Amino acid sequence: MCGIIGILSNEQVGGRIIDGLSRLEYRGYDSAGVATIDQRAIQRRRSEGKLQALRDILESDPISGTVGIGHTRWATHGLPTHQNAHPHATDRVAVVHNGIIENYQLLKNALINQGLVFQSETDTEVVVHLIDQALKAGKSPENAVRETIEKLEGAFALAIVFKDNPDLLIGTRRGSPLVLGINDDELFLGSDAWALAPWTKKVCYLEEGDTVIMQRGAEFTYEIYDAGNQIVKRPLKELNLAIGAANKGKYSHFMLKEIFEQPQTLSDTLLSLVDEQSKTIQIESPFDLSNKILRIRLISCGTSYYACLMAKYWFEKMAHILCEVDLASEFRYRDPVLNSDDICVFVSQSGETIDTLAALNLVKGMGCQTVAIVNVPESSLARAAHKHILTMAGPEIGVASTKAFTAQLMVLNILALQAAEFRKVMDKEAVLKHFTDLLHVPKQVSQVLQNVSEFDKLGLRLSQARDILFIGRGTNYPVALEGALKLKEISYIHAEAHAAGELKHGPIALIDKLTPLIAIAPNDAWFEKTASNIQEVSARGAPIFVLTDDHSFKVNAHEFQNICLPKSSSVGNCFIYTCAVQCIAYYTALHKGTDVDQPRNLAKSVTVE
Ligand code: F6R
Repeated sequence: MCGIIGILSNEQVGGRIIDGLSRLEYRGYDSAGVATIDQRAIQRRRSEGKLQALRDILESDPISGTVGIGHTRWATHGLPTHQNAHPHATDRVAVVHNGIIENYQLLKNALINQGLVFQSETDTEVVVHLIDQALKAGKSPENAVRETIEKLEGAFALAIVFKDNPDLLIGTRRGSPLVLGINDDELFLGSDAWALAPWTKKVCYLEEGDTVIMQRGAEFTYEIYDAGNQIVKRPLKELNLAIGAANKGKYSHFMLKEIFEQPQTLSDTLLSLVDEQSKTIQIESPFDLSNKILRIRLISCGTSYYACLMAKYWFEKMAHILCEVDLASEFRYRDPVLNSDDICVFVSQSGETIDTLAALNLVKGMGCQTVAIVNVPESSLARAAHKHILTMAGPEIGVASTKAFTAQLMVLNILALQAAEFRKVMDKEAVLKHFTDLLHVPKQVSQVLQNVSEFDKLGLRLSQARDILFIGRGTNYPVALEGALKLKEISYIHAEAHAAGELKHGPIALIDKLTPLIAIAPNDAWFEKTASNIQEVSARGAPIFVLTDDHSFKVNAHEFQNICLPKSSSVGNCFIYTCAVQCIAYYTALHKGTDVDQPRNLAKSVTVE
């Protein structure tokens, strides 16, 4: 979603703002812009489409200035046009915004009644006019911003520059993330620390309601005010981000690189939780296992939700704990019934997903303990939860989540195993066997990746399809859901997934010769049942593609193929088959020629509802 960069420096900032925005591209966007202050004027350039379009504009029409703000916009209010691109500005002030101003229509109507003319369809423009009016009335920039944000409802992170104050940059946040970067002779704002990493190692994560006033005098100084306008000190953090992760290396896309990183990221995540030698879990359980756990609730969105669906099978089968799984966007609005001893676990790659964060705050407010499983250590979710566990996937740049998903599975499986061991549902021998199975997972995933040519061929075939169905049973059902989501996200082919046993209850009506079926069918406890469902579909003429470890499996179909995968344990299959469906989605998109890493309309970090 929208990305913000701000720089206050002694050097020219225009080019570096674009450089910073390029590190926010992964969040997803459809227009971009930059504004600087120089020679007592606001200089502003904006463009629809990708950053390159903005670079081209700047090349023929450069801007100058040592203070500036930049933005990548993911359209919410108004089309992704030049007119709606940020920064929005008047003669006095320019603003970039991430989030949604929920009461903007009310504010806009009032401003229009006062005779103001709006240039864009955005919610952001009301912020610019409100600050401008306050400045016109003689307020200082700091007070103009304070007065304005008091009138705003919704979520926002804002970066603001002022024509008459070229030594000033203001940032403020409520709901959306904003990071301050600090050097002796430069100050920065960014939507995430990753964007600032090449410039500074010292950052401060602004907290909910904070406003930072950054100034250039004899020295560069900043002051942070909390929501109650009191000066506060926030902890400074030393950044330790692997900048190399920003390169695709030998891979044609970040997504492919991230798929191939999985043997390593799975091993890193596993070994951050267990001791390989003694085959014991090293981390303290985030749940109070000595208490009678009645219920675990797993709450999340999108791909992370599918990780939770998989974990439901594990918590219930392995640990005999009732597990409920919720979409955060539904959970937060349905007045959920909670017991104070419910354990609520929030799963998120970015740790910034607004619905997941809101659901966590709701649960906290009701007195429940909260645990976050996140991939970004300093994310809002990690900081808001009582406890958090990190997935060790490293920065994930491709918009479609791959390695973060499998790392989430690994963490959730270990938590289920820990609960099973504590509750003595699994005996010592079963626990040891499970450990051995998990330790084999990274190698088995790398075996899947050793020969991707079959996925490539299948991708070519599927790229011709208009609709594709996935089926699976048991833990293969969330794999099927994830496969369909990945495929539609990046290839734009309509795909849906069903629990194989549900086909007869409706979806089988969709089957025809033009609708390929992809069955997730390892030879496991559910295999025979799924095999019957595959027969039923083939009898109705669909092209059949079966992901299986049973090389002899066959059905009579006008088009049929087994995609053979390594034999593994039940838990190993969850990772192996996930990796396979990721590859199928990738190669299908590759053959369709879509933008794999930044698919249309999607954002990496969903910071608005
Ligand atoms: C799909 C994908 C999304 C995210 C969802 C939640 O490939 O990446 O469905 O999983 O937006 O995001 P996080 O996990 O950051 O909370």
